[in-house]
Amino acid sequence: MSGKFLVFEGMDGSGKTTQAQRLVAWLESRGRHPLHIREPGTTPAGERFRNLLLDPTREAWDPATEALLFFASRRELLLQEIRPAIEDGRDVVCERFTPSTVAYQGTSPELATFVLALDRLVVPNDMQPDQVLILDLEPEEALRRATSRSEADSFEARGLPFQAQVQNGYHRYAKERPESTTVIPVGDCNPDEAEALVLDAITHLFT
Ligand code: TYD
Repeated sequence: MSGKFLVFEGMDGSGKTTQAQRLVAWLESRGRHPLHIREPGTTPAGERFRNLLLDPTREAWDPATEALLFFASRRELLLQEIRPAIEDGRDVVCERFTPSTVAYQGTSPELATFVLALDRLVVPNDMQPDQVLILDLEPEEALRRATSRSEADSFEARGLPFQAQVQNGYHRYAKERPESTTVIPVGDCNPDEAEALVLDAITHLFT
């Protein structure tokens, strides 16, 4: 039996890591052996791409250039970690995937279309996520959380219009893939409430 591929998405401070850890614990409590990974990163190739892309001292690049590099990193992660785990019957819980590239590099409708086309080329149908969970924050709340975190990186610390663009990108992705995406408004949720909404969205995959 193949494992399930579950992706957490959301802006910095939306609680992705907390919710991913809780979902991993829930899966383990059901006798499963989930693999918890993140993008960009996880593999040696992924760490190289991460250092390149998230280097705060680097010059600005065209969003399409960034998108191509994020997909290069994603392809390695798919082949080296995600596919072997799924084929082995393990569930994969991944923080960030294609929706992040739609949200962060899809800075115009044309670029969002470009990113979605790349996704269809790079991520085979049978390796698409079973469920994407978008932990949704309104731009004001996202900015408040991002600026209160000292480690805000080069992508997050860019102000309200940027946060609004990221939210739009996430909503665009959800509209493209409604059957495998759940948008969870977490602005007013505590972690227990958010977890309950996450479980509501995925338990059908495990029954
Ligand atoms: P990270 O430190 O992993 O942040 P977080 O804890 O919020 O996930 O940084 C990842 C950064 O990379 C984040 O600012 C979003 C950005 N990013 C993109 O711009 N495009 C992408 O495709 C991905 C995967 C991430």
